[in-house]
Amino acid sequence: MTVTIVGSQLGDEGKGGIVDVYGEEADVVVRYQGGDNAGHTVVHEGEEYKLSLVPSGAIRGKVNVLGNGCVVNPRTLFDELDALRERGLDPDVRVAERAHVILPYHRLLDGIEEEVKSEDDDEIGTTGRGIGPTYEDKAGRRGVRVGDLLDQSVLRERLEYAVPQKRALVEDVYGLAIDDLDDPEALDLEALYDEFAGYGERLAGEEMTVNAGDFLADRLAAGDNVMFEGAQGTVLDIDHGNYPFVTSSNPTAGGAAVGSGVAPGAVGDGEVVGIVKAYLSRVGSGPMPTELGGVPGDTPGYDGDPENPETEREELATYIREEGHEFGTVTGRPRRVGWLDVPMLRHAARVNGFTGLAVNHIDTLAGLDEVKVGHTYRLDGEALDTMPATTEKWADCEAEFRSFDGWDDCDWADVAAEGYDALPENAKTYLEYLEAELDAAVYAVGVGPGREETVVRENPF
Ligand code: GDP
Ligand code: IMO
Ligand code: MG
Repeated sequence: MTVTIVGSQLGDEGKGGIVDVYGEEADVVVRYQGGDNAGHTVVHEGEEYKLSLVPSGAIRGKVNVLGNGCVVNPRTLFDELDALRERGLDPDVRVAERAHVILPYHRLLDGIEEEVKSEDDDEIGTTGRGIGPTYEDKAGRRGVRVGDLLDQSVLRERLEYAVPQKRALVEDVYGLAIDDLDDPEALDLEALYDEFAGYGERLAGEEMTVNAGDFLADRLAAGDNVMFEGAQGTVLDIDHGNYPFVTSSNPTAGGAAVGSGVAPGAVGDGEVVGIVKAYLSRVGSGPMPTELGGVPGDTPGYDGDPENPETEREELATYIREEGHEFGTVTGRPRRVGWLDVPMLRHAARVNGFTGLAVNHIDTLAGLDEVKVGHTYRLDGEALDTMPATTEKWADCEAEFRSFDGWDDCDWADVAAEGYDALPENAKTYLEYLEAELDAAVYAVGVGPGREETVVRENPF
């Protein structure tokens, strides 16, 4: 059977940790979209693993697949694999021949476009990994696929088409001199060819490439358990998120089929577990109706003025950010934080068809007198219980809050060992409210970052 793990909010909900918890019974773990823009954390026996491309099943020694819907930077992939091997793991990672390759010029163009947009304060706040430009080339039918790296004449042909276009874009559209760039080799055909043909040889030598759809169909037919590991989250989905402040792929559950080559029925017949952070965090720009405080440069219209009249909210934001370690995995930049946004979650539950929920960071909110949620929005005098389709309307939504009594800090490892009933009563009231609003049962509750700090109520396999 299949279990699909999907972020229900804006990324960083704790997907990696839940993949690790439920991964015990998985045989194969598959990433189906995104690339090294992800940062998934697994904490086990005091060791912390931060994974950007290698699926989180690697920590448990599972077979891992990067599906055709992923964009793969071979530099990052091999760096990550080497680093994991140095730590004593032996990750088995297969890469779809149909997946697209992130080339150095994609990263370069990601940076240039963000720079240009920032002149009008319109930047997305991307991770700078070249994700958008790579998916653009995929849709524009000028991409390089993993399978192309294995055939040097095909690789050369693809680069001979793409590289002159990228050079012209940089020089003639953006008006930059290539020789003055930090990395002029990003646009040097021969240098690119040499480096990427080398990755092709390594991929072939380590027998890492697969026809992912065939591979997974065989594994499912043999009765294996397959877990799909979504990256990013529903509101970062290019179709169902808050465009243009999104990533360029489909993290939502439908993406698991398209991005891996299994039939939609295989995903739909399985379980789809929505990962929910008990509050909300956001990296980068875009609206956030339940935001507390702000982060200069990311929160629209917020310059970090210490005389801000909203000091109380600012203090709460700082408290939650520090308790929850809400700083970017790679960049260390502070994440924006806010109360849980329930209209957002209703949208996510519908678009993904959650059969269950995992709610993380219940421990982070412990110690607060009051925990709030944005229960509905008010827009132009009307109440809304889900997100509007346009970002402009979403930005105009005002959250209408509901208040819950807080819960005390406790020994969370003990709670996890004892099980769901041992959770503080007020935390259970909060979780039951979510179950009722989203019409899905809480399968797991995160009470700390470690594998053993998860209350497992139901195993979806
Ligand atoms: P992902 O991108 O969805 O996999 O999430 P990230 O790894 O980017 O961010 C989640 C962060 O919160 C990581 O540092 C996790 O170790 C941590 N984390 C996950 N679940 C919990 C939880 O229940 N409580 C606490 N305190 N930390 C958690
Ligand atoms: P995980 O899998 C949080 C955000 C970026 C930016 C937007 C577009 O760890 O949850 P991109 O580089 O994808 O073109 O950036 O999406 N973003 C994430 N935010 N968690 C992530 O991944 C993210 N991946 C991308 O901050 O706003
Ligand atoms: Mg993350």
